[in-house]
Amino acid sequence: MMNIILMGPPGAGKGTQAEFIKASYPVPHISTGDIFREAVANQTALGVEAKKYMDSGKLVPDDVTIGIVRERLQQADCGQGFLLDGFPRTVVQAEALDEVLVSMNKKIDVALNIDAPIDLLVERMTGRISCKDCKTIYNIKHMPPAVEGICDKCGGELIQRSDDQYDTAKKRIEVYFEQTRPLLDYYSDQSVLINVNGDQGEAVNVFRDVKAVLDNLDRL
Ligand code: AP5
Ligand code: MG
Repeated sequence: MMNIILMGPPGAGKGTQAEFIKASYPVPHISTGDIFREAVANQTALGVEAKKYMDSGKLVPDDVTIGIVRERLQQADCGQGFLLDGFPRTVVQAEALDEVLVSMNKKIDVALNIDAPIDLLVERMTGRISCKDCKTIYNIKHMPPAVEGICDKCGGELIQRSDDQYDTAKKRIEVYFEQTRPLLDYYSDQSVLINVNGDQGEAVNVFRDVKAVLDNLDRL
């Protein structure tokens, strides 16, 4: 069983590491950011509501977010574990997650905190592009596609996220420090927090450290 939380500031590399993790381990990738972006793209009621917050760099209200994750964790593909990316982000969300897991007789095995210096975070976010179709993440400067504007994996169009403008990116970092950073203590107190350096030149180097942690879990 591998119940994993991926934590870290915006731009640290959670989504990038999630791609590596799901290619190596049988866990579904549950990104609340991706769920909201999908809803925005489909112009659902959830999308219309979420967009107001996302475009200003703020968090979507806890009750909305918690409801979505609670439902998602009940699905059959979470039977062998799950990889939560971008949730929880507030203490209220973390407490709600604990309650859900207790009711399912599950627990968090590891909270992986990927960190990187603030200047680098902004540079990464403003340079990020991702595939409209398969969602693979690239970076104009650090991880460029082979052909400009086109996804290496599926040939889809590469687009920029609307919340990756400089000012919104800065705001998201601010919100992270105010509301999400305190969760490091929450998971440290539960003895499941492991820090990973997200600034090691290439993403594959970061994954080496992530893999070492997850392989070790597997043996427990
Ligand atoms: P979300 O989508 O979760 O965004 P985020 O947390 O701000 O994180 P990012 O996706 O920006 O960064 P990442 O760590 O995944 O980095 P990535 O791998 O892409 O949330 C968006 C919004 O949705 C929130 O602002 C909020 O409004 C709402 N929301 C979501 N969850 C919520 C919740 N629980 N509660 C309330 N609201 C919620 O990498 C970044 C860039 O760096 C890429 O270009 C990548 O190619 C590059 N890169 C990555 N790793 C490396 C590396 N090692 N070396 C060089 N470049 C790298
Ligand atoms: Mg992400």
